[in-house]
Amino acid sequence: MTRSILSHALADAGLALRSNDVIFRMHGAARERRAEGADPIDATLGALVYDDGSLAVLPSAVRAIREVRVEDAAGYSPLSGRPDLMAAIERDVLPEGPLRDIATTVMTPGGTGAIYQALVNFLDPGQAALVSELHWGPYGMLADRTDRRLERFRTFDEDGAFDTSALREALARQAAEQGRVLLILNTPGQNPTGYTLSEADWSGIAAAVEAVPADVPATVLLDLAYVRYVPEPEAWWDAVARFLERGTVLLAWTASKTFTLYGARIGALVALHPTDDIRAGIDQALNLTCRGTWTACNHQGQLGVLRLLEDPELRAGADAERGRLIDLLEARWDAFSGAIAGRGITTPPWHGGFFTCVLTDDADAVAARLTERDVFAVPVGGAIRLALCAVPESRMRQLAEAIGASL
Ligand SMILES: Cc1ncc(COP(=O)(O)O)c(C=O)c1O
Repeated sequence: MTRSILSHALADAGLALRSNDVIFRMHGAARERRAEGADPIDATLGALVYDDGSLAVLPSAVRAIREVRVEDAAGYSPLSGRPDLMAAIERDVLPEGPLRDIATTVMTPGGTGAIYQALVNFLDPGQAALVSELHWGPYGMLADRTDRRLERFRTFDEDGAFDTSALREALARQAAEQGRVLLILNTPGQNPTGYTLSEADWSGIAAAVEAVPADVPATVLLDLAYVRYVPEPEAWWDAVARFLERGTVLLAWTASKTFTLYGARIGALVALHPTDDIRAGIDQALNLTCRGTWTACNHQGQLGVLRLLEDPELRAGADAERGRLIDLLEARWDAFSGAIAGRGITTPPWHGGFFTCVLTDDADAVAARLTERDVFAVPVGGAIRLALCAVPESRMRQLAEAIGASL
């Protein structure tokens, strides 16, 4: 197809989007190989599947959604979301105490919608959000689609520690250049590394945010996509208190991973700000952004998630069922980390979540070589991302061998 034919329909902005999503492109290639009769390893998609390839869905979540009365779900929910659900999410994500008094929440289509809300309301067009070099790829597309950009800081230093010095320098540069900062941190169980920020990391990050000049608005967005999959993620609350001395804290919450309800498209952005007037302004901006984009979120999903959070039996059931999925992920990690030993394969420290990654300066070439061995994984800047959530334990040795041979 020539560009001139295409451009009859698509504007340049739309044309530029073709084949842009490497995750779905690689997944499509794996599916093609399967259709041809091959038995590929598809380590691309971030949905947790059992070893037989079927989606791992929490039975309690199935029940919660199934029991929603259509009569209750058919109408629009309020634009920002159901107040009872938003209060339940605040109770779920925030510790008991004063933080709950300075929160305002909006429901969003998944965590993706929460990140969208953050980008369009806490940055102006042309401005950049700050992310670590190793980050979830769609941040880039979201920034691109909203006329924002990403700037990156080195994720790990020479000793393999989270690079708070690089973060501090990048924040200072961004503050000087654009007079506003939005730092996005995905923890615990970061996608793509599986890394969880430690207490020392948090205090280094808080110091870096405190060093941003007082006249520069500072916002820290914590993307908590994997928060229910990684134990002991509590160390950040001291840092949050310190961030709040300087500006706004945003928490991106999602039912996609928390309740394996990826298709329900239920997420939330919880915004924390100590000043009432400013918080009211944030609340209004988030509300109007809903109206101007998706109007309101899926009402059936909201009602189902509300029950999962509030009905003690369903909540306890979901927690126990999720515990078994965490065991599954850990068994896959154990098999993979055992199989890579002695093969010259380096991964960041893994603490949990759906992904790990193999560090390489040549990610595109390595990913291409892997496809020749019927292994499909996603090249991200500086690494090959591997979806532990998608690969059975029994195939981890084959995966390690293929990577070892392709580096
Ligand atoms: C780091 C991270 N953030 C956000 C999301 C958003 O997911 P969803 O929009 O389905 O909630 C994902 C999904 O893979 C993710 O890995």
